[in-house]
Amino acid sequence: MLEKIKAVLEEIEAFDAKTLEEAEAFRVRMLAKKGLISALFNDFKTVDPAHRKAIGQQLNELKQTATEKIRTIKSRLEAEAGQGAEDKKQPDMSMPAVFDPVGSRHPLSIIRNKINTIFEKIGFVVSEGPEIEDDWHNFSALNFPEDHPARDMQDTFFVEKNPDIALRTHTSSVQVRVMETQKPPIRTISPGRVFRNEAISARAHCIFHQVEGLYIDEGVSFADMKQCLLYFAREMFGAGTEIRLRPSFFPFTEPSAEMDVSCSICGGPGCTVCKYSGWIEVLGCGMVDPNVLDNCHIDSRKYTGFAFGMGIERIAMIIYQIKDLRMFFENDLRFLRQFTSAM
Ligand code: PHE
Repeated sequence: MLEKIKAVLEEIEAFDAKTLEEAEAFRVRMLAKKGLISALFNDFKTVDPAHRKAIGQQLNELKQTATEKIRTIKSRLEAEAGQGAEDKKQPDMSMPAVFDPVGSRHPLSIIRNKINTIFEKIGFVVSEGPEIEDDWHNFSALNFPEDHPARDMQDTFFVEKNPDIALRTHTSSVQVRVMETQKPPIRTISPGRVFRNEAISARAHCIFHQVEGLYIDEGVSFADMKQCLLYFAREMFGAGTEIRLRPSFFPFTEPSAEMDVSCSICGGPGCTVCKYSGWIEVLGCGMVDPNVLDNCHIDSRKYTGFAFGMGIERIAMIIYQIKDLRMFFENDLRFLRQFTSAM
């Protein structure tokens, strides 16, 4: 019996495994129900009672040694396998990159940025103001008479039935704020969202965007305005563009005009975009009414100025030849993905 124990012990001490499978096979060989050590425990039942104590102790030690050895080998092999898996997690630096698709700017933002840049080049600075305005900044300071139809519920969205607070109907309101707080010379453009209670169609929307401009200094003339707007038209629509000014009316300018540009699509003879006239209307303009300057505490005997305002949607429709204004607000990706810009 003792010799058998010694032989098994030697085998255990000599054992080593290269794989977990080998270690497991060894455990089965030693410790499973039909294993060597279990067999020795069976034999133990027949041992002479006089030797039982000593042999029993040896057997227990043998079992412990085997269990301990297999456990050590297994945990060593498992650690090595785990290390291998860690190595595999290292990123593969040679793999080709996967690029995320880059979004594009909204066409209205592209056109707004372009308009801003054109005027910034000749010294205009961008000013912004609130979309919810009071009557003074949107109408009264701008010389709108009390009974002007633009103040009517039909045109203006009022906030909570308060006739003094409304969504601005143009960004001229921002320019009143500039005139009230700054001294001439003033050269500013105000891009922004405006609101008018109009039925939505291919040509009109109740929300749209404007860029309005204002230039006030000593001796500013109608000729200055014309030159400034000619520069804008050529930067925006191409070097060969001509402009034409037609008399018009706005409460805040006198005289007032509407500006057409020569049709950049057909170049003159007529097409569907210019409705066969060769001209496309793009903005309203005029010399700032002296009443407006006085309302904003600018001395109208010393200073003169011009103002202009245009709809960004309208300019974008001309540039991109878009026939339905509603497309700008639908956020259809098939539409939006067609526009790219660097700015
Ligand atoms: N505020 C005018 C509009 O919204 C545009 C405009 C601005 C006209 C400045 C003349 C001068 O239609």
